[in-house]
Amino acid sequence: MTQAVQTAPSGTERVTQWLIVVLAVVIFAGGLFGYDQGVISGALAGIKSEFSLSTFMVQVVTSWVTLGALVGSLVAGQLGDWLGRKQTLLFAGGLFALGAVAQWAAPSPGVLVAGRFVVGAAVGVAAVAAPLYAAELAPARLRGRFISSYQLAITIGIFLAYLVNGSLSAEGNWRLMLGAAAFPGIALFLIALAAPESPRWLMLKHRRADAAAVLHKVQPGIDVDGQLNAVDAALLKEKEEAPWSEIFARQWRKPLVVALGLAIFQQITGINAIIYYANQIFASAGFATEEARATVTTWAIGGVNVAATLIAIAFIDRMGRRLLLLAGLIGMGVSLAAVGVAFRYIGADAGAASSGPTTAGIVTVVALVVFITSFAFSLGPVVWTVINEIFPARVRGRGVALATAVNWGSAYLVSQFFLSLVDAIGSSLTFLLFTFFCAVGWIWVYRAVPETKQKSLEEIQLMWGTAE
Ligand code: BGC
Repeated sequence: MTQAVQTAPSGTERVTQWLIVVLAVVIFAGGLFGYDQGVISGALAGIKSEFSLSTFMVQVVTSWVTLGALVGSLVAGQLGDWLGRKQTLLFAGGLFALGAVAQWAAPSPGVLVAGRFVVGAAVGVAAVAAPLYAAELAPARLRGRFISSYQLAITIGIFLAYLVNGSLSAEGNWRLMLGAAAFPGIALFLIALAAPESPRWLMLKHRRADAAAVLHKVQPGIDVDGQLNAVDAALLKEKEEAPWSEIFARQWRKPLVVALGLAIFQQITGINAIIYYANQIFASAGFATEEARATVTTWAIGGVNVAATLIAIAFIDRMGRRLLLLAGLIGMGVSLAAVGVAFRYIGADAGAASSGPTTAGIVTVVALVVFITSFAFSLGPVVWTVINEIFPARVRGRGVALATAVNWGSAYLVSQFFLSLVDAIGSSLTFLLFTFFCAVGWIWVYRAVPETKQKSLEEIQLMWGTAE
């Protein structure tokens, strides 16, 4: 590395600068996604009292972001293929800012809900476009790290939202909590304006000269012609962009099943039940004051999530996707089982909770730290990485969009039914159900998910036997 810097200083510098712009796009898009996941729990109390909302309307205000994200992620693939990855990210940045301002200024619940939907659409569009953009611009040896940086940004966004919630909730300043997202939205817009277009998309649009110019700029040391020929060969085999229906063709069945399976298992193993309801879980674990709960949620969930994602970034391109997934699912399953067992005791001595965390409560905190750590070095970043690298270019935009929408749909179902499930079968059995899904997920990953570390996107494509 040092030698390369010494022998080709200017080239290395230019690579670094442009790749940093690409990284910045990815980080702002992910950060906005995360902020939005985390902020609503802190904003709800203030919104509820200002507009005197019914429980039904509280749920609408909460869930319309997910609905918007679902719609956004479905149109994002199409937009990314029509307009290009860069313009799509510009569009997402604009939508973020617009939605955030609408929420900040909302004179009525109707405008607030519309603003929530617009921000959700931006989340959905960015959640598809940013990792896809990273996958197409990062050199193969760094691709895993680039896409896990997207996940790192999500976790930083959640962490920042928890911090903002903690500092503004005393005054109930929900407008500032929600409106603050306008600033990173504008920043995303400005950075995307300076960012290069994806060379793979330019090749898809028969703009080889433009693609060559981008590659010269972003990776000046590489054999640009060789790389473009490889992209061209891959595209030629696939001829033109596929219609939507083609994503379901038998030819692409294997990558589609892998992407959808990962999208679903990432959610049904319980991550967002913990992210959204951590406060409530910690309340049952004996953290009696709002302050104590906010602190433990911010650090034990938000902070640990960021730190463990850093581990994934360090190892994903060396240890590979499969090993991280399999190891993470074991950690998640075991810790959820511990929470399930602990909740039997918490349930039994809930009355003692006011005197401070019980032993079972402390077991719950430790187990949730293990759970978040295991998720953050495995299913969190690896799922997004694999989804973005396994589809052939011809159907990549649509495949990624569909998998992202299925991920949002699963997230919606889990967060919508978690509390009802707890009411129906109890916390203990609910957590044991998540353990069961971890076990099923482990077996499925072991059998169905191939290793893709350090392979170029074109090599991955050949793994599916699409050459026949
Ligand atoms: C998931 C989100 C989750 C986040 C937590 C992401 O990979 O898609 O649903 O809230 O990780 O860090």
